[in-house]
Amino acid sequence: MSVKVATPLSGLGFPSSNTPKYMNGDTQVLVPSKCSTYTNGSVPRKISEYITLRDGTQMPRIGLGTWKSSPEDTKDAVKVAVKAGYRLIDCANDYNNEHVIGEALQELFKEGVVKRKDLFIQCKLWNSNHRAAHVKEDLMASLEDLKLDYVDSFVIHWPQAVPSHGQNVAVRKSGTYIDHFSKGTMMPIQDNGYYSWDKECHYMETWYAMEDLVDEGLCKSIGLSNFNLTQVREVLTKAKKHLPSVLQNESHPYLQEKDLRDFCRIHKIAFQAYSALGSFDRPWKKAGSITSGEPITGHELLDNPIIKELAASLEKSPAQIVLRWHLEMGGTAVSKSVRAHRIISNYGVWDFELSPSDLSKISDLNVGWRHLLWAETALHFDYPFKDFLPWDYQPGKPDLKALSVGPKPT
Ligand SMILES: NC(=O)c1ccc[n+]([C@@H]2O[C@H](COP(=O)([O-])OP(=O)(O)OC[C@H]3O[C@@H](n4cnc5c(N)ncnc54)[C@H](OP(=O)(O)O)[C@@H]3O)[C@@H](O)[C@H]2O)c1
Repeated sequence: MSVKVATPLSGLGFPSSNTPKYMNGDTQVLVPSKCSTYTNGSVPRKISEYITLRDGTQMPRIGLGTWKSSPEDTKDAVKVAVKAGYRLIDCANDYNNEHVIGEALQELFKEGVVKRKDLFIQCKLWNSNHRAAHVKEDLMASLEDLKLDYVDSFVIHWPQAVPSHGQNVAVRKSGTYIDHFSKGTMMPIQDNGYYSWDKECHYMETWYAMEDLVDEGLCKSIGLSNFNLTQVREVLTKAKKHLPSVLQNESHPYLQEKDLRDFCRIHKIAFQAYSALGSFDRPWKKAGSITSGEPITGHELLDNPIIKELAASLEKSPAQIVLRWHLEMGGTAVSKSVRAHRIISNYGVWDFELSPSDLSKISDLNVGWRHLLWAETALHFDYPFKDFLPWDYQPGKPDLKALSVGPKPT
């Protein structure tokens, strides 16, 4: 293999930290060697496995995603990931598996694989609990499931207080299912079948309640997810005690979000890409969304000919090419898999680099394809992705089958 080593690209990301690769020191890990030498004797450009958040906390750049991971699969996935070197687990109460992640973490601690302080656990405030009085209760329910007494990062999952009937906290009882609001579900609909929403609750009220949770020691840092640039700017401007550390938004080579990434870098917010590999298993691929069907390029991301060609020439998998691209962009990423060999190989992104010519080819794949629109909530004032909707889009009723996750409580 002959690889031309690129000169470091300037201005990409935050200053790298001096954090040791494995904060747990003596733990045995299954990761490939981090700094192999090319046949021409040069070494690939090193990218730190950690990024420094604005409060000095070290956040791993690559994390394991857990959306759509069934409770049966999730425990092993988390254990394999941590043993393979992952230190960030991305959780959310609507993924219906935080209780299993809690079991996996306990086993990892008992087996001596890692200590709590070596992990970075992120969870999310669900939309039905945006009111100040509900924010702490939402986090406490996640902490109970995760069997932890704090999380490293707690992010507002979506900006719109949708759906909510605005009176009672709604936490996961079983699956995350769409039902009439009288059932206390996390995804309530009104009598007419449309989403209900809480128009009287704004995310700044939510943010101020999140700030208090940092002071209480229940989360180390707070952040945002699915906020557009204007909304992030509003939080930066109006925050009273703590600024957002992380923005977790959809991004991959088909939706590169270069302006948003630059904005985050300038304002010291770590950009964390979700659906980093293009979300092949997105539930609405077949039906239930205006983005159902193939991506507008005609290829699923990991089947894209350019990605496959780069993978073949660098002797890497398409997923490793895409994850390395996230790193080369100065960002961080969470990707999901429940298969041990993929989880392990997806972490093997430290021993090669993409040349300027490789990066330029991937740059050309940016077509603005956003798969997660949640368009049925678009009438809400705080809906973040209006620019991505067709000009004549009329929000409809949610497709109950396509969007419910896990079983209803009996
Ligand atoms: N904040 C939010 O609103 C939000 C929204 C979406 C996602 N997220 C977070 O981001 C995480 C990642 O996003 P995502 O789950 O949408 O999708 P993703 O990570 O982009 O893609 C997951 C899909 O890729 C497959 N895959 C993984 N590694 C592979 C490999 N090496 N080769 C071929 N296929 C591979 C997985 O299949 P297998 O599992 O079968 O391997 C799965 O079908 C989520 O799990 C969640 O934690 C957050």
